[in-house]
Parts: sequence; C-alpha cells; structure tokens
Amino acid sequence: MRILFVCLGNICRSPTAEAVFRHRLETAGLAERVMVDSAGTGDWHVGKAPDRRTCQAGAARGYQLAHLRARQFVAEDFQRFDLILAMDEANLAHLSSLRGSSVEPEIDLFLRRGGLPVHEVPDPYYGGAEGFEQVIDLIEQGSDRLLESVRARL
Ligand code: 4NP
Repeated sequence: MRILFVCLGNICRSPTAEAVFRHRLETAGLAERVMVDSAGTGDWHVGKAPDRRTCQAGAARGYQLAHLRARQFVAEDFQRFDLILAMDEANLAHLSSLRGSSVEPEIDLFLRRGGLPVHEVPDPYYGGAEGFEQVIDLIEQGSDRLLESVRARL
C-alpha cells in the first residue's frame, strides 16, 4: 500500500505526517508493507529541508525530519499512490481540481478518517510555536487512527 500526505509547502505539515506515520508503521512492523511520502501543492520550497520549527517540534518527540526534502505534487502521483491524504480543505480542493473526473485513487482529508472533532491540520507557517505543537498533536492522533484503518485494509 502507498500513502501520500499533501499540504501547501511540504515543509511543515505533510513532512511531519510522513515522519510520524512512518514511525508508527515501523513500531507496528508494517514498514515493509506500506510506503509513505509527502508533497506540497505549491513549488516555493522545492528541494528544501522542512522548516526549522517543524524539525524542532518533531525532534522534541523523537521524529527526525531534517533529511526530508520538499517536492511539489505531480499528476503522476495519482497513479503512484493508493491513498492521498490532504492536510486542509484548500489542499484537498487543489487535488480534486487536478484529478478531474477520475475516481481513483482515494483522496481525503487526513483527519477526516480519524474520528476527531477537527478535520483540518491548520497551516502553522505564519504563526507562533504553539501552532507547530498543535500540528504535531493532531498528526500523532490522526496517525494512530490511520494505522488502525491501514491494518484493516492490509
Ligand atoms: P505547510 O506550511 O503547507 O504545512 O508546509 C506552509 C509552508 C510554507 C508556506 C505556507 C504554508 N508558504 O507560504 O511559503
């Protein structure tokens, strides 16, 4: 199974989801069976490492992100992945417009499948440190639930 996480810049939310969910898969012994990646709908940060604040928030909880490099979502990703999970409604709308009328693959909000009261991971880029804490809180909770649904599908 192949899962792609998508946000706007691919330097804050989606690389965090990639690192946290990969860690969950490794802990569960499922890393060989599920491939994860992340991308941004925008191209401003292509080739760059995640935002310094994202790396710090991740490292504080044991997730290493500094080796990741941003890339932009490309149309071929619709063929390469089984499940594409967007961080917010704007990211999801962008993906839907690129996909056109095809129904494959499944695209959704990352948190919608989580049973959490919020469905979006808010963009932390122009805010303070607490926004980065909120991002990682939501992504850890969403990843726990995503792992359960992935297990059920394998
Ligand atoms: P991300 O955050 O989508 O979670 O990676 C952002 C990063 C950069 C920008 C916006 C959001 N930006 O405007 O450059």
